[in-house]
Amino acid sequence: MRSHYCGQVTEDLLGQEVVLCGWVHRRRDHGGVIFIDLRDREGLVQVVFDPDTEEAFATAEQVRGEFVLQVEGRVRPRPQGTVNPDMVTGKIEVLGHSLTVLNSAETPPFQLDEEDVNEETRLRYRYVDLRRPFMQQRLIMRSRITRAIREFLDEQGFIDIETPMLTKATPEGARDYLVPSRVHKGSFFALPQSPQLFKQLLMMSGMDRYYQIVRCFRDEDLRADRQPEFTQLDVEMSFVDENDVMDLMENLVRQLFAKVLGVALPAAFPRMHYREAIARFGSDRPDLRNPLELTEIGDLMKSVSFKVFAQPANDARGRVAALLMPGGGKLPRSVVDDYANFVAIYGAKGLAYIKVNDRDAGKEGLQSPIVKFLSDEALAGVLERTGAQNGDLIFFGAGKAQIVNDALGALRVKLGEDHGLSEPGWKPLWVTDFPMFGWDENEQRWTALHHPFTAPKTDDPALLEDAPGLSPSRAYDMVLNGTEVGGGSIRIHRSEMQSSVFRVLGIDEREAEQKFGFLLQALKYGCPPHGGIAFGLDRLTMLMTGSQSIREVIAFPKTQTVHDPLTDAPSPAEERQLRELGIMLRKSTVS
Ligand code: AMO
Ligand code: AMP
Repeated sequence: MRSHYCGQVTEDLLGQEVVLCGWVHRRRDHGGVIFIDLRDREGLVQVVFDPDTEEAFATAEQVRGEFVLQVEGRVRPRPQGTVNPDMVTGKIEVLGHSLTVLNSAETPPFQLDEEDVNEETRLRYRYVDLRRPFMQQRLIMRSRITRAIREFLDEQGFIDIETPMLTKATPEGARDYLVPSRVHKGSFFALPQSPQLFKQLLMMSGMDRYYQIVRCFRDEDLRADRQPEFTQLDVEMSFVDENDVMDLMENLVRQLFAKVLGVALPAAFPRMHYREAIARFGSDRPDLRNPLELTEIGDLMKSVSFKVFAQPANDARGRVAALLMPGGGKLPRSVVDDYANFVAIYGAKGLAYIKVNDRDAGKEGLQSPIVKFLSDEALAGVLERTGAQNGDLIFFGAGKAQIVNDALGALRVKLGEDHGLSEPGWKPLWVTDFPMFGWDENEQRWTALHHPFTAPKTDDPALLEDAPGLSPSRAYDMVLNGTEVGGGSIRIHRSEMQSSVFRVLGIDEREAEQKFGFLLQALKYGCPPHGGIAFGLDRLTMLMTGSQSIREVIAFPKTQTVHDPLTDAPSPAEERQLRELGIMLRKSTVS
């Protein structure tokens, strides 16, 4: 039906006949001549109809935006003064002599070049939204990314193996999506939160190197970088330690960026212990483009009269930290107050600050509601440790360590954004040595920080069970510009250790048997040491396309309220279907 893509008709084709198909992007009537910008995946081309070609001209008069056309014409230079140097096809136009309307179109719900169309509308008419050149570019880039990944992994001897979608729960910290079984009434499959257990079983099967670009399902609260179904690049390898996995994955990401973006990432990604990341940035996924850092000052505050600081300074679970904002002294009071309101979101009870007017003038030189409560010694220590200069502003967080980290960590990011502090470019980072477990205050029990199959550093199950809080794990996360793009670990490959971890997590023997019996058994039949990682493909694509949300790089995503406005899913099931499944709805859920 066509000889060329619209976007590929350049001056190389001057004088030639072309047949083009596409959508009417714009139509203009110019005193007897009709111009149509015809659009397809590859771009736009200007087609001209003049009244000499009577039939085509008459048809051209009828067409409107988003009509689907087939045009035959001859490529000619644009007249002087009408050349558009910004367009690939800007030096030429096509003089149309035949025009077929392949389909008409109603007025689209929004113009393709309209900005700020609300997301609900964009998703309801996603097929129109996806016609927009920037959306097409994102999906094309996504396809190039997966191709580059497959090329790399194929070369490295990885085998692409599919794992089940109808399966048993795989605990990754979210709720499961359940699928009722008709054959086994009252029983449910779970959609995988990840292929974690199957990829481990594949290592036990001797597959050695596995990968899969695979959909995962998690029923959790959504954010800009979370969807209920999302895609992982999932990898597992046998006979490796953490350096093997990290080195190889670093190479993968480096090659990916070089191929797809032409960007050279650093020769070795920096590595940082979890503890250091939290201490310096209040976060386990710090954006290293942002130069601001937290400073530990708890030891300076142990005996000050200001209880707000002294109390957490003397509590093992407390933290007192400072965040220096160079040049921040010029921020008006109202802005500083806004930041205090901002950290309140994270549970902070306040945001003390000191404006450094003259650092050599003692307390006189410091403008702050709290200096009167602090000793000269403590103040001198703060100035020295933060390296504050005249004109700087120091923020303070004090309280439960978790709250201080969350609050100052988020403030650091916000200051960076509000004041354009971050340098441009790409800052990858490995965060390693995560704790095995975190203590859940509400439920008064240990939870797995990564997942329950991650190996601890220690090989001794007894040691782990004696002091679960002290044992670091063999997990690692790859962080890129403040986003966790991937996470993985070396796995437990002995059943005794796996049982110990279940015990620490409060999973008793019966429950372990019921939920993970197949794994515990498989571990006894010759399991190699193994480890792996999974990347969030949507997040990686979001970063590489410069998008603000993973919804922008998924063809048909769900809204923040877990709804698809296009198909109106989820929707009630028919009574007949429910009966077949042996399911009766609770009264409260039937509207
Ligand atoms: P994890 O749970 O860290 O690890 O997931 C791996 C990566 O997947 C991405 N990701 C998500 N992306 C979009 N929406 C979500 N809801 C979502 N949840 C996670 C993140 C994350 O880094 N089985 C382990 C991996 C392993 O140990 O090999 C796992 O799933 O980018
Ligand atoms: P107050 O004595 O409660 O008025 O607090 C004095 C200053 O300390 C104010 O600027 C508060 O914002 C700040 N502040 C109070 N609680 C905290 C806290 N937990 N962390 C940091 N600053 C705080």
